[in-house]
Amino acid sequence: MDLLIKNGTLINSKENSRADIAVENGKITAIGKDLQAKEKTEIVDAAGKLVLPGAIDVHTHLAMPFGGTISADGYFSGTRAAACGGTTTVFDFALQDFNENLVDTVKRRDALAAPEAAVDYAFHVGVKDVHGDLLNSMTEAVAYGVPSFKVFMVYDFGVTDGVFYQILEKAKECGALISVHAENKEIINVLTERYLSQGKTSAWYHYKSRPEFVEAEADYRAIKWAKSLNTSLYIVHLANKEGVEMVTRAKEEGYEIYAETCPQYLHFTKEVYKREDGRNFVCSPPIKGAESKDALWEAIKRGDIDTIATDHCPFQSYEKDWGKDDFTKIPNGCAAIENMYPYMLAAANAGKISFQKAVELCCENPARIFGCQEKGFLSVGKDADIVIYDTNKDFTITCESMHSDYDHTIWEGLNLHGYPVQTYSRGRLVYDKGEFVGEAGWGKLVKRVPRVTS
Ligand code: URP
Ligand code: ZN
Ligand code: ZN
Ligand code: ZN
Repeated sequence: MDLLIKNGTLINSKENSRADIAVENGKITAIGKDLQAKEKTEIVDAAGKLVLPGAIDVHTHLAMPFGGTISADGYFSGTRAAACGGTTTVFDFALQDFNENLVDTVKRRDALAAPEAAVDYAFHVGVKDVHGDLLNSMTEAVAYGVPSFKVFMVYDFGVTDGVFYQILEKAKECGALISVHAENKEIINVLTERYLSQGKTSAWYHYKSRPEFVEAEADYRAIKWAKSLNTSLYIVHLANKEGVEMVTRAKEEGYEIYAETCPQYLHFTKEVYKREDGRNFVCSPPIKGAESKDALWEAIKRGDIDTIATDHCPFQSYEKDWGKDDFTKIPNGCAAIENMYPYMLAAANAGKISFQKAVELCCENPARIFGCQEKGFLSVGKDADIVIYDTNKDFTITCESMHSDYDHTIWEGLNLHGYPVQTYSRGRLVYDKGEFVGEAGWGKLVKRVPRVTS
């Protein structure tokens, strides 16, 4: 036994218990009362603290070429920040190049991630091109341990409706789950051109060119096609009320439709785009009105939002400034990789949701939905990805106290009551009371199991 965490309150989604947790060779080997240490075991006293699974952030964009630049966190700084916020696995997007086999896409990004990652990581492949035999390379990627793909209905690399439909069909056949960024590209383009021609160029018009219905309509189409094929679908960064209602209905009808939302949609409203620094909040889909924010929280409580993830895609201030006088020049994306788990746990600590719910959304559901069998639960045989959480610790988020490489954060000044104090990645301490103590290259690629095909 290498590590024994004693006297903490263990949180899994179905239960709380006072128990010790033993770790050997990176795995949880025993959970129970009064476990005895062996000679060389390191003992950690977690009395009065919560002991939680490490979070799994299933939506990050590290070192991503986007918006005329590259996102500000690479695989090292991004995973370092993740570790310091209690996130022990990140799922990054490997974007296919045109004419590229999807396994090659994974290998190309893995070559960047492997030497840098400080916590474990997995990839979803962002599919752009399915001509010729490329569609069949989805099956090869599944066999390689990557059974999830993403399609974008927007951006210059987004796919057509027909390509999206073919990808859904293929996913059903090969046991993969398709994620979708759902917004209506055509309408965005029309509204954007109109506002620019009227000289309406501030960040507020980022929101105005992609209002609620632009997202809802695309949610509708995506859900419709998944239903017609009777296949599963995962909607990333859901941010609008009508979309939430469609997901609820689809679930009630028995369809396997999953929804993710992000902390920025749970915390802010569209009014941020009227601020002088509104461009710093520009992400797509944009943050919506208070009705949508409230609907997302209600859906979380009902169980209709399945996961919380970050869509972490930060840019530096000078890059956001490119769009000071033209919202279309603002690189899209915000930071949250270090904030997600602390934010959701603070919501639990404040009684807004339960700690079990926070763990379900940030750990267990992501592991279950994306076939990540070793992770997400505190149980014997799982990886020892463990967070110790102090419900009494106060923490104020500042850019300086974060462990990313960006120079500003939308979360500046937010007070959280309760904060992680230690993070273990496969039994190794990677974060200790405000300090990153891990190392680049520690993180491993997590290979996953396909879905059961019918
Ligand atoms: O604004 C965002 N979300 N940037 C990252 C790319 C995406 O759409 O997920
Ligand atoms: Zn997106
Ligand atoms: Zn994203
Ligand atoms: Zn406090």
